[in-house]
Order: sequence, then C-alpha cells, then structure tokens
Amino acid sequence: MAPPPAVAAHGLSLGYGAGPALEGVHFEAAAGTTLCVLGPNGGGKTTLFRALIGDLRPLAGDVHVAGRPAYLAQTERTRLDFPVSALDVALMGSLASGRWWLPPRRAERHAALAALERVGLAAQADTLFGELSGGQRRRALLARALTQDAAVLLLDEPFAGVDPASAELMTAVFDELRSEGRTLLVSTHDVESARSFDLVLCLNGLQVAFGAPGESLGREVLETTYGSDLVILEEAPERPVRAITVQHHEH
Ligand SMILES: Nc1ncnc2c1ncn2[C@@H]1O[C@H](COP(=O)(O)OP(=O)(O)OP(=O)(O)O)[C@@H](O)[C@H]1O
Ligand SMILES: [Mg+2]
Repeated sequence: MAPPPAVAAHGLSLGYGAGPALEGVHFEAAAGTTLCVLGPNGGGKTTLFRALIGDLRPLAGDVHVAGRPAYLAQTERTRLDFPVSALDVALMGSLASGRWWLPPRRAERHAALAALERVGLAAQADTLFGELSGGQRRRALLARALTQDAAVLLLDEPFAGVDPASAELMTAVFDELRSEGRTLLVSTHDVESARSFDLVLCLNGLQVAFGAPGESLGREVLETTYGSDLVILEEAPERPVRAITVQHHEH
C-alpha cells in the first residue's frame, strides 16, 4: 500500500458565507515534496491554507494534513510596539508542543537560537521585533515556524515585501527543509520560481491545474489562472514560457 499523502484535499470547496470562494480543489502531496500554490489576488491561496490549518471548515470535500503544520501567515497582525525580541518570537514556535505555562527549557531556547541562526538572525536574537526590518521580521517568523519542528510547513507568500538577500536566505532554508524530508507548501506570485518545486497548484477561484511544473505551467494554464494580470516575457518552441504577473498588494 502506498504511504498516505502528507497533505491532501479531495473535492474541496471553501467559502465565507456567500457561496464558495474556492472550489474543485483536488490534490495530494507525498511526504518530502514541495508544492507551489500559484494564483492571482483573490485566487484562494490564503483560503486554502486556512482550511489546511483547520481555521476554515470545508463547504464540501475534505482536507488532510499529517500532524500539526507550521504556518507562516501572509499578513502579520503583530503589534510592532509589543516588547518581544527576535528570540521570543522564535521561542513561540515551541509553545505549539505544550508546557506553554512554564518558562522555556534550555532545549527550547537552544532550538529557538538554532532556528534564528538558520535564518541568519543569530546576531539579532535580542533585538526587539519591532526594530527589525521587514525582511528580518519575516525571517524571525520563519524561525518561529522552524522551531515548531513540523513535518508540514505552510508558507503564505513568504517572499512578499522581502529584500533579495532575505529571499535568497529563505530559499536556502526551504531547500534544507526539503532535504530533511519535510513537506512544504509555498504560495507565491512568482511564476518563474514555481518551476523549482516538485508540484504546482494553480488556483483562480477554482483549481485550474495541478501537477509537475513541466506539465502544468503552460501558457494556457497561466492565462486561465491569471487572466489579464499575466505578462508573457518570452515564448520559444520547446522551451517553457517565461512570464510574470502583475500583483496588487493591500497596504
Ligand atoms: N475573511 C473573509 N471574508 C469574506 N471573504 C473572504 C475572506 N477572506 C477572503 N475572502 C474572499 O475569498 C476569495 C479568496 O481570497 P484569498 O485571500 O484566499 O485569496 P489569495 O489568493 O490569498 O489572494 P492574495 O494574493 O491577494 O493574498 C476572495 O474573493 C476574497 O475576497
Ligand atoms: Mg493571500
């Protein structure tokens, strides 16, 4: 018998009251695979992640996640004047495993410091969260997800608003996580970066495509996924089409 998938959705339909916001989602990702979730603004990427963490009950179908996933939310509603250090933020990851009412044990501090080290923030361990740059804050939150030591990580647009150096560092961490056999779901607007994943899932209110990037990321799928937000950069026979998307950020 094949091992059960680490993450799966079957006949999934999700919404917020007035009919489905996302429907027809059906995919499976085996343990140790990386899956890129592509889609325009409002396509349903965050909605899918919310269902996978159990925050949103399906209108139809079901979701499956092996264990308790670590989740990096797209928008942090963290108060920036709240006096916590980068180390405190990383330590919050260990709250997921219980004993939250006791002071952190040495092993937990060690894990949090190691996570900060991995994301290149060892020197900023005692810096207040609000005093970090945007890219550093994102990395501190990634450290929190790492501290959870989860088999499945759900990262919602981890690169949005992040400087190139932070993005490069985060990509290296994702490669490590993959080689450790963890399952990664990463949503992004960057079509080109999707090609380095094992699988891609294209959403636009419904599932447009799912599969290996080489099979799924053709011009037709991208046009159906992004509509007029798609800009084709280059198209040559026998080569994957190169494209970028226009994205709109809420600020
Ligand atoms: N809390 C909510 N209440 C009602 N509708 C919502 C809510 N959150 C999202 N939606 C709707 O669900 C649909 C999918 O939104 P979602 O946030 O999942 O898109 P997304 O792909 O994450 O977009 P973005 O790239 O902008 O982050 C949209 O039509 C959106 O308006
Ligand atoms: Mg989103």
